[in-house]
Amino acid sequence: MFSISTILEKSLQAALNEAFPTKERNSKSALILSNTHLIPASKPEFGDFQINCALALAKEIKIPPHQIAKKIIDQLQKDVEFLRICNPPNIAGPGFINLTVNSQTLITEISNRLNDERLGVAPKEFIKGVENSNRVIVDFSSPNIAKEMHVGHLRSTIIGDSLARVLEFCGYEVLRLNHVGDWGTQFGMLITHLKEVAPQTLNKEDVVEIGDLVNFYREAKTRFDENKDFKNKSRNEVVNLQSGNKNSLNAWKLLCNQSRKEFQKIYDRLDIELIERGESFYNKFLINIIEDLKNKNLLVNDQGAKCVVLKSFLGKDGKPQPIIIQKSDGGFNYATTDLAAIKYRLTKSPNGDGAGRLIYVTDAGQSSHFSGVFQIAKCANWIPEYCRVEHVPFGLVQGEDGKKLKTRSGETIRLVDLLNEAVKRAKQDLTSRLKTEDRDESNSFIEKVSTTVGIAAIKYADLSQNRVSNYQFSFEKMLSLQGNTAPYLLYALVRIAGIARKGGKSEVSNQNLIFKEIQEWALIRKLLQLDCVIAEVEEELLPNRLCGYLFELSQLFNRFYDQVPILKADEPSRNSRLLLCSLTADTLKLGMNLLGIPTLDRM
Ligand code: ARG
Repeated sequence: MFSISTILEKSLQAALNEAFPTKERNSKSALILSNTHLIPASKPEFGDFQINCALALAKEIKIPPHQIAKKIIDQLQKDVEFLRICNPPNIAGPGFINLTVNSQTLITEISNRLNDERLGVAPKEFIKGVENSNRVIVDFSSPNIAKEMHVGHLRSTIIGDSLARVLEFCGYEVLRLNHVGDWGTQFGMLITHLKEVAPQTLNKEDVVEIGDLVNFYREAKTRFDENKDFKNKSRNEVVNLQSGNKNSLNAWKLLCNQSRKEFQKIYDRLDIELIERGESFYNKFLINIIEDLKNKNLLVNDQGAKCVVLKSFLGKDGKPQPIIIQKSDGGFNYATTDLAAIKYRLTKSPNGDGAGRLIYVTDAGQSSHFSGVFQIAKCANWIPEYCRVEHVPFGLVQGEDGKKLKTRSGETIRLVDLLNEAVKRAKQDLTSRLKTEDRDESNSFIEKVSTTVGIAAIKYADLSQNRVSNYQFSFEKMLSLQGNTAPYLLYALVRIAGIARKGGKSEVSNQNLIFKEIQEWALIRKLLQLDCVIAEVEEELLPNRLCGYLFELSQLFNRFYDQVPILKADEPSRNSRLLLCSLTADTLKLGMNLLGIPTLDRM
């Protein structure tokens, strides 16, 4: 079964090919035409879909936009499939084409979706013969061992998980990789320090809490910066570790385990699945990376350090800035590990992961790191033609004052505290609402609802912003029942579940669907946009598109619910409306699930 948009997209491509034969295209018009797609109408009065290429095309082929639009429409109207689905197209303004799907098609599509687990979203068709086009790696979360996970890691975790879920739903095989910082000089300092001040932590599990570990790490760092003797000892310790010294390795493993347990607590609360594959995994490949770059004549010596200099990778002074691959003391960098990781991830199995798309979710501060690493990998020919490698940057988390998020006393906020606070506030809101509504609920109900709402609010607040901009963290806003928030969406679902409980579900059958109110049609049209929205997220990796869609859907549902009788309506409207409710619930649930947000039947 194809969705409406898939069929129309095919008709559009065929019409464009007929109206503008390939051999008559110049390079610019060819580009415009190959990027021309059906897009959902920006306003309901424009119908369901728009085709916007006429204006750009007019400049290239010197035909007025109105005539171009006319040419496209003439072709479309020769297409039987198109005529079956759409009303005659309109030209709006200077040359925009508006398409409106006819009611019969909308009704058929609604009833198809009622019986379809995927709600009309076809799984992706992978191009045959292209290697690994279906395997994606999402590198996300990736905190550092012995350091606390901070809000930046929280953003990466939430956004990365949602992207992974969307891609999984589209049919990709997704490898969710946690690229934890578990290697490097910091372990030399930490182990040296602990050997002196708390040796018991290095040979027994569970002696040290993550909070203490973080403090030990700070102390070690101070000593490292101030004390030469300590610095040398730490360096030796790194050498011991890297050469596989048993005691050092044991201590390292213990520290990693300790951190891992703490990270896992957060992942469990957020319901996040990740495969840990830290920086240390790539250690054995680093030497090879140097060799390979050397053989390809990409390495230069800069005061003893091995570097790559790219013409397009400029420093603040506007001059090409060398990227250090191996330091003069022989040590490797963050970038070296990422180069090894790219190569491994794109190499076919059994020597690598064989992925076709790599996605890295980190703060925008690392954009230049990734741009450098990707460019080097390109120059070294490690990125095959058919592969996509993308950095998915996000902005800073700020407090309501617009400054970096801090506690009152000016310290970095711990993630656990943030989650606890959200749940605590959700509980306060809930208990006071129960009081005003004079409802008596069990403790387990209160616990369940406040945990779900608190976590949902944190996740949704993050996902609903365009990730590229900085985002202002506000418990009050994210927990509000009004506006584009998780509680607002959850509440729409609770309303629908309420209707079902009041006897609105059992006799539902999907014969004889009849719709006559504008509120119904508006809801139907929104429901049918789901597949386009998911395709957009898959392409642009912006979960806020999905959030915006679910918000608009909830708004339209609420308007329908407030203005049109459902349970009290006569048949066959009653039945049709109940089915509309149930499809809205399924769509909201699917969408929330793709965001990683749990839902409720009552709240
Ligand atoms: N550990 C890094 C940090 O905390 C993030 C790693 C992101 N992934 C990567 N492949 N570099 O900033």
